Amino acid sequence: MCGIVGYVGPQKAEEVLLSGLTRLEYRGYDSAGVAILTPGGLRLIRRVGKIANLVEAVREAGITGNLGIGHTRWATHGLPTEDNAHPHCDCTERIALVHNGIIENHRELREELALRGHRFRSQTDTEVLVHLVEEHYQGDLVEAVRQAVARAVGAYAIAVIHADHPTVLVAARQGSPLVAAVLPQEAFLASDVPALLPYARRFCFLEDGEVAQLRPGELRVWDRQGRPKQPVFREVPWDPLSAEKAGFRHFMEKEIHEQPRAIADTLRSELSTPWEEGLSGLDLSEIEHVYLVACGTSYHAAMVAEYLWEPLLRLPVTAEIASEFRYKTPALGRRTLVVAISQSGETIDTLVAVRQAKESGAQVIGVVNVVGSAIAREAHAVLYTRAGLEIGVAATKTFTAQIAALALLGLWLARARGLLGEAELRAAKEELSRAPRLVEEVLKLEPKIEGWAQKFYTYPNFLYLGRGVLYPLALEGALKLKEISYIHAEGYAAGEMKHGPIALIHEAMPVVVLYSAQELPHKVIANMQEVRARRGILLVLADAQDPEVQELADHLLLLPPSSRMLLPFTFTPALQLFAYHVARLKGTDVDQPRNLAKTVTVE
Ligand code: G6P
Repeated sequence: MCGIVGYVGPQKAEEVLLSGLTRLEYRGYDSAGVAILTPGGLRLIRRVGKIANLVEAVREAGITGNLGIGHTRWATHGLPTEDNAHPHCDCTERIALVHNGIIENHRELREELALRGHRFRSQTDTEVLVHLVEEHYQGDLVEAVRQAVARAVGAYAIAVIHADHPTVLVAARQGSPLVAAVLPQEAFLASDVPALLPYARRFCFLEDGEVAQLRPGELRVWDRQGRPKQPVFREVPWDPLSAEKAGFRHFMEKEIHEQPRAIADTLRSELSTPWEEGLSGLDLSEIEHVYLVACGTSYHAAMVAEYLWEPLLRLPVTAEIASEFRYKTPALGRRTLVVAISQSGETIDTLVAVRQAKESGAQVIGVVNVVGSAIAREAHAVLYTRAGLEIGVAATKTFTAQIAALALLGLWLARARGLLGEAELRAAKEELSRAPRLVEEVLKLEPKIEGWAQKFYTYPNFLYLGRGVLYPLALEGALKLKEISYIHAEGYAAGEMKHGPIALIHEAMPVVVLYSAQELPHKVIANMQEVRARRGILLVLADAQDPEVQELADHLLLLPPSSRMLLPFTFTPALQLFAYHVARLKGTDVDQPRNLAKTVTVE
């Protein structure tokens, strides 16, 4: 939700900011702006719409400087207008500020500041922050920012510049991510690593409560109490090339095709950094309940794990939507294991669930893609998916990488609990290692899947049905379609269809059925009969030849056969490709669908 960039150094600040914002556009993209310190003072340029509009405006204005901040917005308070776009300025127009997060007490602060004579120009919660900095400024920008944020309740990552300090960029974070990078003569700041990949490989991930000052070649950090801290830098092994489309039409298409490698790297990571070491601090033998907590696509990965783990671990395993879990006050304790799954490692609902679980004494493992992200830092142990950078807002390769990591973790936990022998573990891992190859085989079916998309992209509604582990995959298939094509699609447990969705079936209703010999095939055939009897259109993905299925299906896609554990790796890529081609044919913005953001750092 919103992306921030800051720069100070010899390069043209506007170029670094605009390239960073373009790379952060997945965080929000309803308006954007920059503030640059020019010889004539602070210059602010803001535009509604995509970054491309801003790029054009900055070029036309011809402004340049060596210090600046930029922002791409995903509106929370106030419409996406130019006045509400960041940066925001104080009354003197000498201080500019960008913000990601939500200031919960903005109304009280606004009233108080207005009474003291401050003039507000936007409807945002953010603007109070810049007036607070103005209020506390007495020549020391770091001190003014510290005092300002001390008054704010809520979540923020901010970057602030002042016309009197041409080589200083000040930042602060509480609940929203910020990374800093320093080179000998320059310094960079951003919400997320991708913005800075063309410039740096070593990053300092700021912690909650910290205030930082960046100057060319220097980063200084203070904690909430104003005590200096030694910044810690970490290497991020991502290649800037992975942020390019490499010949594909969209990042999503590229990322779908990167799945064999993402899965293989994730499975391999267990060998390079043995999990025994990572998990050694945990006491897993006495666990009585496992919660898998996540949002969005990661929640569907959690549901897959629920189906895979329960028979393996012989324990209650529950997948929970993080934003619900937080408020359910579940009974947690030392004998509860909470596994938090998050691509970004920054989704606020999942992060707060992690914190609550820790406070209640539960043991917490994070399954995260972004190295050094908040969940990775705060969980007791972290397992990284090695999917690499994912740019498309709709998650694809990180989903199958999560499932690979979770399948492995399930086996590992079963072994740790003495429920799986060494030989069985080895055999199961061997089987899992077939996943990348299976995905490759499914990707070869793309022309046929594209043909389906051509036939159906104009239909307004879709129903997706599956049972067992195919049920969360049906949910994910429907989610992918609605996210990027804006077609209404619903995923349902096939056995539940008769309790509601069956009322929707008629001759123009496509029903995507996930059929496997591994998951109640006869029951699913009965569900197909029910659809057929009401003249629904059956699009069947099947991993086994069956004459009855062949006869019932209006359209049949034959997937390679596999085991129950491997079903996510055959069905998922086919569903992703279908959604992708439907969206492409509809001409939607596949990589940045309307109203969505890749990383949701607001509740
Ligand atoms: C957003 C994204 C989804 C993602 C979800 C959870 O809604 O658009 O693609 O699945 O957040 O994100 P996380 O980073 O926690 O996996």
